Amino acid sequence: MHKIMGNSNWKQYFDNKAETFGASVKSSDYFNEESFFMQRDNTLRWLGRLEGKEILDAGCGVGAFSEPLVKNNTVYGVDFSVKSLEHAAARGLRTSSEDLTALSFENGKFDVVMCIGVIQLIEQYENVLKELARVTKPGGTLLIETLNKGSVQRKMLKLFEKSKKFEKMYTMDELKRVFSKYGFGQIEFLKIYHPFKFVTQGSGDGLMSSMFSTSFAIKGRKNID
Ligand SMILES: C[S@@+](CC[C@H](N)C(=O)[O-])C[C@H]1O[C@@H](n2cnc3c(N)ncnc32)[C@H](O)[C@@H]1O
Repeated sequence: MHKIMGNSNWKQYFDNKAETFGASVKSSDYFNEESFFMQRDNTLRWLGRLEGKEILDAGCGVGAFSEPLVKNNTVYGVDFSVKSLEHAAARGLRTSSEDLTALSFENGKFDVVMCIGVIQLIEQYENVLKELARVTKPGGTLLIETLNKGSVQRKMLKLFEKSKKFEKMYTMDELKRVFSKYGFGQIEFLKIYHPFKFVTQGSGDGLMSSMFSTSFAIKGRKNID
């Protein structure tokens, strides 16, 4: 595994995963199923009940994260891994193969845009955020989940791991600034402490949570001009 992979390598990487592991969450590189369900269920609970909404799962992989939303909403799934999308479509997502840096959807189409476990793979992540912001409806919600750069456990792992797949990490504060820059307010965090099963919520980047949460979700509401 190369230290930093370009876009086409990630596409190939996730196509290979989907060919090997099929619809399993292993195709999306989760540590294990338990860790996946813990993150998914806590995140969806935090997002709140959604019904009759237009939702975009950006970088949906095999579609396991947004699958529970399909029953009561219209869920679109985009990803550049065509092999992964086959499984997402079978889960009921409306799929299209697209690069997140240039989405085909019109401005303000979605009530909710979610992007889970993706931006750590993308060197130019601001281009993706700009696109996600563009397709979010004024008053709609943008939710991003990613690894926490400030985490002590991740710093320790870096000392021991020779090759690190996920090179790009962000602090909560950094993403908060980018959310504000692209017109989002009411910003909140959900902090996840793998391998422990608890999560905490808050509007800020507290010292303990920024040091010990291994990953976090950030959500914000798009301002209505
Ligand atoms: C770690 S997986 C997460 C999948 C899913 N969100 C989940 O949490 O189960 C990351 C996904 O992002 C996709 N991806 C990465 N960069 C992308 C890009 N620039 N455009 C479209 N998809 C991308 C990959 O193909 C992969 O399916």
